[in-house]
Amino acid sequence: MVSVKFENVTKKYDDGTEAVSSLNLSVSDGEFLVLLGPSGCGKSTTLRMLAGLEDVSDGNIKIDDVRVNDLPAGARGLGMVFQSYALYPHMNVEENLSFGLKRATGEARLSNEEIKISVESMAKMLELSEELSKLPKELSGGQRQRVALGRALIKRPKVLLMDEPLSNLDAELRHQMRGEIRRLHEELGCTTIYVTHDQIEAMTLADRIAILDKGILQQNCPPLEAYHKPANEFVEGFLVKHLNDIRDTTKTLFEE
Ligand SMILES: Nc1ncnc2c1ncn2[C@@H]1O[C@H](COP(=O)(O)OP(=O)(O)OP(=O)(O)O)[C@@H](O)[C@H]1O
Ligand SMILES: [Mg+2]
Repeated sequence: MVSVKFENVTKKYDDGTEAVSSLNLSVSDGEFLVLLGPSGCGKSTTLRMLAGLEDVSDGNIKIDDVRVNDLPAGARGLGMVFQSYALYPHMNVEENLSFGLKRATGEARLSNEEIKISVESMAKMLELSEELSKLPKELSGGQRQRVALGRALIKRPKVLLMDEPLSNLDAELRHQMRGEIRRLHEELGCTTIYVTHDQIEAMTLADRIAILDKGILQQNCPPLEAYHKPANEFVEGFLVKHLNDIRDTTKTLFEE
C-alpha cells in the first residue's frame, strides 16, 4: 500500500504569502490524482512540500501513514518529473536513464548487468530503444520528455510526482504523451500525483481531481462528477464553463 495524506497542511512563505491553506487530501494506493487550478493557486507548492523541497509550515504529510515532514527528499521514495526536464546534456539516453541507479550505494545498488537490463526494459516501454546512444540535443521534445519520465520511473518510486510535465510540448505531442502517461500508469500501477492548470489534461488523465483556488481545496472527486456537479461557483467557472466553451468553439468551427 502506498498512500499519501495531507493533514491540515499549510504553507506560508517567509514574505507572508499563504500559498496553501489547511489542505486535507488523501491519495490512495495506485491512484492517479490530478491537482488542478489556475496559476498561483498553490499546486507546485503542494507537490514540493510532499517531495521535501519545501518546508511545511503547519500540519502533517504522511506517506503510508508515516509522517515525512522532516524526512529528506532523497529518503521519501518519490520520483519526480518537472516542466523543465533537465536531462544531463553531456550524457546519452542510456547514461541519463542509468544515472540514478548507478549512484545508489549499499544494498540498493544493482549489479551492472541488472542496471543494463532495467535500462533496456525501460527504453523498450518508452519506445526509446533506438535512441539509447543519442544525446538529449539529438532528440525530439517528446523523446526528451520520455527520457525524463524514464529517469523517474526506473528507480521504481513509491509515488510518482509530475508538475506540468507536458507544457513545453506542442499540442500534438502533448496529446500523444498524455496517452502514454496514462498507459504507463496502468502498466505500472504507481500512485501518481500530477499537477496541471489544463482542464482537458485533468479530465483525460485523472482517476480523481483535486481543484485548488488561492491555496484552498474546492472540490475533490472523479473528473466527471466535478463536471456534472461542480461544488461551487469557482469550479463551475474554471472547469465546467471552460470545457463547454471549448466544445462550443470547436462545434462552431466545423459548422461554419
Ligand atoms: N518562494 C516563494 N516565496 C514567496 N511566495 C511564493 C514562493 N513560491 C511561490 N510563491 C507564491 O505562492 C503562491 C502559489 O505558488 P505555486 O507556485 O504553488 O502556484 P502554482 O499553482 O504552481 O502556479 P502555476 O500554475 O503558475 O505554476 C503564489 O502566490 C506564488 O506567488
Ligand atoms: Mg506551478
